[in-house]
Amino acid sequence: MIWMRADMKGKPNAIDEMLECHSEILRQSRRLEEALEGFRKGGSREDLRLTLDVFLLFTRTTLKLHKRDEEELLFPCLADAGFPGKDLERLMAEHEEFSALDELVGLARDFGKGGAPAMDARLMESLGKLKAHMKEEEDVIFSMAREKLSEKDMEKISERMKALRG
Ligand SMILES: [Fe+2]
Ligand SMILES: [Fe+2]
Repeated sequence: MIWMRADMKGKPNAIDEMLECHSEILRQSRRLEEALEGFRKGGSREDLRLTLDVFLLFTRTTLKLHKRDEEELLFPCLADAGFPGKDLERLMAEHEEFSALDELVGLARDFGKGGAPAMDARLMESLGKLKAHMKEEEDVIFSMAREKLSEKDMEKISERMKALRG
């Protein structure tokens, strides 16, 4: 991996913080995938519902904040550094799709057993897209940010990330 914490030199590094967020999103996504898998193999709907509740809270907090960090802080800096605007717009359009994830989780939560498989399949598909999105950001966007953004830019983003969390 190219994003080593060793290059932080004790200063806040916005990209490392965003990567930590990605790790948390991945952990939560895996938890939900496992719960969906468990349910498919005969587990109780109630167990799945509890995991869906946790995930729903997660999409409304950490995931929402992370999207905002990227859209309001990181992407504008990258655009200024010459990163193609249409790629950033596409990533933001994908963020919009992930807002629908929130709704999907809510629907899956309230679904009865009979209609659940189709809903769960849609949820799995959305989680797959979310993972692909994060991989692209890590491979392309975050690498570009490390290469092109100054230490000052990074510190500014990091400070604003903190400020947005109050
Ligand atoms: Fe993103
Ligand atoms: Fe991201």
